[in-house]
Amino acid sequence: MSRILISICALVFVLSLIGLPFFHEANAENVHLGWSEDEIELMRRLRLSVEAVADKNRSNELFFREDAVELGSRLFNDTGLSGSGQIACASCHRPESGFQDTESVTYRLNPQAAHRAPGLLGVAMQDWFFWDGRADSLWSQALAVIENPQELASDRLRAVRHVCARYENSFPALLKDCPEISTLPAAPWGASPLVDNENWQKFTAAQRENINKMFVTIGKSLAAFERGVMPPISRFDLYVDALVEGNSVAAKNLLNSKEVAGLKLFLDPMVGCVNCHNGPMFSNSGFYAVATDSPGRRENDRKQGVTLLLNSEFNCLKWGNAEDCPKVQYVQTDTAETAGAYKVPSLRNLRHAPAFMHDGRYQTVEAVIEHYRNPATLPLRHVDIRPAALLPHQRGQLLSFLKALNSDPSN
Ligand code: HEC
Ligand code: HEC
Repeated sequence: MSRILISICALVFVLSLIGLPFFHEANAENVHLGWSEDEIELMRRLRLSVEAVADKNRSNELFFREDAVELGSRLFNDTGLSGSGQIACASCHRPESGFQDTESVTYRLNPQAAHRAPGLLGVAMQDWFFWDGRADSLWSQALAVIENPQELASDRLRAVRHVCARYENSFPALLKDCPEISTLPAAPWGASPLVDNENWQKFTAAQRENINKMFVTIGKSLAAFERGVMPPISRFDLYVDALVEGNSVAAKNLLNSKEVAGLKLFLDPMVGCVNCHNGPMFSNSGFYAVATDSPGRRENDRKQGVTLLLNSEFNCLKWGNAEDCPKVQYVQTDTAETAGAYKVPSLRNLRHAPAFMHDGRYQTVEAVIEHYRNPATLPLRHVDIRPAALLPHQRGQLLSFLKALNSDPSN
């Protein structure tokens, strides 16, 4: 017995002697590539990971239900959810373009629109929705869209009646409360406390509760579908894998020297990008003022978003468990912090974006980088950034790195 033990120890010893040079070599190679262990750890946290998705969607009990995913997928493409019967979610969030609004449907419908439609890849990993974060869950976000006169321009009664009429037979378990809806008096057709309150008040409290519950099922099904809308991994993610494994040969083949130089700038505390653009989606889910508000249009910022969030009947304090939503209970309400602030967007797959920032003010990523070099600050305006000292060749390096976050390997 002891002989076996000795042999095992000897074997382990010999193996470690053989393994040691490789191990050292790997670390030496990483150092050779210019990265410290701390930097590699930081990059590891930027690697795409979908683990947070379930946790962030705890308020949605339908999130993993296959029938909800299927209903959500049909609803996403269903123009019947809109007041006009002409547009669907997919009209503005085009699946073939990272779920972005490449044709500016948003602006065509409403030339005064203050916000552009963001892409939805990885949206289920976020804490807040809309540029001002006025929704605290993916499902309540969808409900806001349906009743927004500038988006689907419908109302909850109409939406619920449409979904029951069209899908009840195919989704009996999800839509089991439809029969109660169908017994509601035929008129009024449209009703909602937000867009047609007079009609809404004609229903009894129990009827209103029923409609709301069905409406929430619509939102939760749409969110279950959106869960599957994930960004594919990028060359950057593969590069991090290679570094973590100590495989410097693979790493060198994944990012070229210009992209690596851009990554170094991105992680450099003096440049500051990674302070806000961090985590697997390159967003810390926070709201910051980066000198992009326009005087006179400040009403669409986080300051207003917080008021709308706290008033929303579908926020997690009002429709859910208070213990599940410390983020709303302790939300930042100090207007000195929230004025002019917008949600930090993801930096993955920027190639799909037709324009940048909440109002689409820039047409190119170059222009965004130039903005950070020389933000147009106004006197007395609070901003969370300092000008980033970037020479012209460094701006090119940063741009190359951002392109390596596109999922298309041929970029
Ligand atoms: C008319 C165009 C249009 C339609 C139709 C539309 N959206 Fe949007 N969507 C937008 C715009 C614009 C925004 C950003 C609005 C804002 O932040 O104030 C947005 C934001 C979002 C967001 C938040 C993303 C984020 O990162 O915060 C989600 C999720 C979303 N839409 C899903 C949907 C779903 C689901 C539907 C269908 C029920 C839908 N959208 C229909 C234009 C549209
Ligand atoms: C203080 C936090 C903060 C820092 C630091 C920061 N950003 Fe941002 N970034 C934001 C916010 C907030 C927005 C959205 C602003 C808006 O929509 O008006 C944004 C938007 C962007 C966008 C546009 C994305 C889109 O889809 O519209 C890009 C690209 C970007 N940042 C890159 C960078 C780079 C590169 C750096 C470093 C030079 C950097 N950011 C530093 C917070 C920050």
